[in-house]
Amino acid sequence: MLNGKNILLGVTGSIAVYKAVEIARRLTEDGANVTVVMTESACRFVSPTTFEAVSGRPVYTNLFEGYFRHINLVKESHLLIVAPATANTISKFACGIADNLLSTTYLVYEGPVLIAPAMNSRMYKKPVVQKNIKELAKSGIIFIGPESGKLACGEDGIGRMAEVSDIIESVKSALTTKDLTGHNILVTAGPTRESIDPIRFLSNRSSGKMGFAIATAAHRRGAKATLISGPAALKPPDGVSFIPVDNADDMRAAVLRNFYKSTSVIMAAAVCDFAPSVTSKSKIPKINNLTINLKETPDILKEIGRKKGKRFLIGFAAETGMNIQRAKEKLRDKNLDLIVLNDVTQKGAGFDFDTNIATIITRKGEITELPLMKKEDLANIILDRMLQLSPKKNP
Ligand code: CTP
Repeated sequence: MLNGKNILLGVTGSIAVYKAVEIARRLTEDGANVTVVMTESACRFVSPTTFEAVSGRPVYTNLFEGYFRHINLVKESHLLIVAPATANTISKFACGIADNLLSTTYLVYEGPVLIAPAMNSRMYKKPVVQKNIKELAKSGIIFIGPESGKLACGEDGIGRMAEVSDIIESVKSALTTKDLTGHNILVTAGPTRESIDPIRFLSNRSSGKMGFAIATAAHRRGAKATLISGPAALKPPDGVSFIPVDNADDMRAAVLRNFYKSTSVIMAAAVCDFAPSVTSKSKIPKINNLTINLKETPDILKEIGRKKGKRFLIGFAAETGMNIQRAKEKLRDKNLDLIVLNDVTQKGAGFDFDTNIATIITRKGEITELPLMKKEDLANIILDRMLQLSPKKNP
């Protein structure tokens, strides 16, 4: 999603500089052109060569090398992020001091600016630093972190630079058009667990990655996003209202509680179709040929399909084989507007991958076969399709 985006990454002198290498690497990997500007102190922690290697572009450290370096750097830049940002650089920005390439570049720059502070907690709490941060925030600069925890100096407190993944997310969010503002999107994700006894359960291979990617993308694009997820080993996305659930009954209850205020529902969860008829209260001892009777779980999507009103409903059909006919039947049966079919037997598709190969089928029968892509990109394509077919926000 960062293809063609030109990002200026300002790096200042903090021990967290090593994490900025990862930021440069991740942004570059996501398609951005990352130009790194380092202060003299930053160069004492990590060499510019490291940033050159991960970004594949020259790194700038000196205001006087080259002609109007600070003016040329900001041309065609979509975003300036300073990570890590020291108290010194933050205060220079707030006071308009321009005594090195980064502070001068900042003064020239007119686009969005993100700052990820990193410093000792006493420095961070110092009233003058707080005043400068507030001043910059008032002028529209977005601050990410800092976080509390163990600091490099050995003390505990606030001042650690935000996690790299949170910084990347803030960059993506700042660069995303808020075309889903006013939408209230309910997303389900992950598997459900149906208990056999207090220790064992029936479940499936869903990792939750697709649903998490959709909720993240919806939030980035300005929607109010609610994510109801079965057990998944993923961090709840920032800014998304997160409701963890365990089994199909819990998921049904949570969906129904949040359904009426939603403008669209995207059921990416792999709800178990069966649950043990009876859950044993104690552990079932080991025996040969144990038989477990199963009952059908509630079909959540079918139930909300009956009450959908003007809401936009999206379902998923994970099949073993490209069964377009079966997906169309599910779309009709559950009264959906769109269904996303994926053949989980294809390489790179389905459960636990970061990628997927999907076919989108609309209520009118339009079929779009998509190539292998990141789940993040597929999430945006699904939301694009939703927006094209249902631009209205009111259910
Ligand atoms: N779904 C649901 N409740 C269930 C089962 C499925 O809400 N108890 C939703 C899924 O989240 C998905 C869609 O229905 O969006 C289709 O799920 P899928 O398992 O492919 O189809 P089923 O209707 O369960 O039919 P089958 O398993 O027989 O293919």
